[in-house]
Parts: sequence; structure tokens; C-alpha cells
Amino acid sequence: MYTAGDLRRRRAAVRAALPGRQPHAVPGEARAFASANIALVKYWGKRDEALHLPRTGSLSVSLGPWGSEATLALTRKAAEVWLDGEKLAPGSSFAARALAYLELFRPESGENFVLKTRNTLPTAAGFASSASGFAAIAKALDALFGWDLPERNLSVLARLGSGSAARSLRDGFVEWKCGRKADGSDSYAVALPVAWKTLRIGAVVVERARKPLSSGEAMRRCIATSPFMAAWDKTVRGDLRAAKEAVAKRDLRALGEVAEGNALAMHAVMLAARESVFYPTGASLAALAKVRQLRAEGVPVYATMDAGPNVKLLFEAKSESPVRRAFPDAVVLCPFADKGSRR
Ligand code: DP6
Repeated sequence: MYTAGDLRRRRAAVRAALPGRQPHAVPGEARAFASANIALVKYWGKRDEALHLPRTGSLSVSLGPWGSEATLALTRKAAEVWLDGEKLAPGSSFAARALAYLELFRPESGENFVLKTRNTLPTAAGFASSASGFAAIAKALDALFGWDLPERNLSVLARLGSGSAARSLRDGFVEWKCGRKADGSDSYAVALPVAWKTLRIGAVVVERARKPLSSGEAMRRCIATSPFMAAWDKTVRGDLRAAKEAVAKRDLRALGEVAEGNALAMHAVMLAARESVFYPTGASLAALAKVRQLRAEGVPVYATMDAGPNVKLLFEAKSESPVRRAFPDAVVLCPFADKGSRR
């Protein structure tokens, strides 16, 4: 997956994020939880593949009680990865990715990890869990080794697992700063001080099958071949400013317009790649048309989509009835609900 040079740089980034600390043999296990997040201004494209450094900043909203729990322990036996109570074959894609990540944190005394992850996302909601999964693993490493790292360092460590995981350490609105440094030490996420209790996210599942092409691969193809990539970078910078302003004012219309436009621009970048990458299906497009119809009828609801066909809706509590009527199967989430009410 990574070249020897990439691995050296990843190890150096880990060392830099662990000042005065290192992995060491410890008894017992540690457990941590991290929320999933939905990008309102997307991360699409890396300036550094090995360190998952983005070309632009991005902004997301966390899903509070919905995310992943990771439990870590050390063993003298072979490494193990479990997902939702099932032991994964070491070659399976999540296990291979998680083990390659954990390899960066093995103590010098040679122990392996036993990783058990569990998703608290309603499976019916069809959210990707790599962001919350890697953020939970980073937090569990911190707890297992007793590092007590500042959040910024944890965000850097989570990013080395999956870019969007950098944004899964905090609740609420989170901005992942692009950073400039080659070692990525200034590319981490920070929370925006805004609580928006009436905000709702609707998850419209149109397809449960795994995506045929990973987001990492799709990003790579876009950078290599999409004629819209340069325009995308510029679009994101403007969208990020506008989205932060809209969040500060809790202005759903302004935020929704930016988020929907940003998501469609990202898909336009992919559509123009050669060979084209197109995640939406006919059912996704039908959902987008329904969102427009609702807006035409005066219901302020907006849509966003990640690297997959499922559609996420953005609206406020006062529009919940018409949205539920139009999307009876949608799972409605409250990102700012009181903690503990649904975990
Ligand atoms: C469309 O974080 O999954 O969801 O860094 O390769 O692990 P890697 O990619 P990943 O990409 C997420 C892409 C996105 C947009 C976003 O979450 O900002």
C-alpha cells in the first residue's frame, strides 16, 4: 500500500505527534468512541498521499451519538481485528487498513494489537464509518498507552488512518485546516463554537452495497485526469468561508445552498475524470429532484452526497413533517441532541 519512503514519513509524522511519548507494553484494554461526520464542504483530493494531507480545508458536522467504538489491547499472539462482533480475515479491506495503521504504533517489545470495533450508526442509515473508526482507534491508542495527547495531536494521528477521521474527534461543526507544512503537523481539525439544536440530518439510503471504488482511488484519478480539479480547489476555498459564516449565523438557507452546491461540484469533478467516476444512481438523482420539489413548495431542505449513492438531507426541526412525508424511509438524526440520549 505504501512505499518504504512513505512509511518512513508516516513514522516520522507519528513521532512528531507524540512528543516525549511512545508505545510501550501495557496490560489491560482501552475503549474509546468517536462520532461519524458529514462533510458540508468536502475534502476531495490529497496534496500528499502518504500523510493524507488535503489540498484544501473542509467543514463537517458531527453525528453526536452515532459513530464507532474501538477497544484495543496488546497480545503476544497474532494481531486480530473484529468488526461488530465478527473476527475479520486479516486480508479483508478494513482489517488490512486498520492493521497497516496500527503497525505504526506497535511497541518495540513486539506485541500485536487486538482491535475490536463496533458501529453505533444505525446500519439502515448507510453511513461510511472509516472516519469515526480511525478517530476511535486514535483515541483508544491514547487511552491504552496513557499518552493524554492534546486534541490537535490526536487529530493528526487520526488523519494518518483516514483523512476525514481528522474531523471526528469533536462534536458539532468541525473545520479541518488544510495546513501548509510538508510534515502535516499543521493539518488538523478544530471545533467551531456553535450549537444548533434545531438542525437535522436525514439519511436517505438508496443502496447498501459497498462502493466499487474507494474515495482515495477516486481522488487520485480526479487529480490525474479531471479538467475541473483546479476550479474545484478554488470553489472549496470560497465555499469554506461562506459555510463558516452561515454556521455562525445559523442560516440554514445559506449553509444548505453552499453544502448542496459544493457536493454537486465535487461530483462534477468526478464526472469529468477519465475514466469518469459517478457514484450517484438513478435513485440518488430522484432523491435530489424530490429535494428541489420540496424547496419549490417552500420547505427549506438541502442535500449532500459523499463518495457513494446515498443522499443526506439538511433541514431544521420545523420542516421535519414534510421531509418525513417526502422521504418516509429516511433516518433522521439530531447532531446537537443531548449526549447520552441515544448512545
Ligand atoms: C467524499 O477520508 O474516506 O467523504 O483520506 O483516503 O481515507 P481517505 O479518504 P476519506 O474521504 C472522504 C471523502 C468525502 C468527503 C469528506 O468527507 O470530506
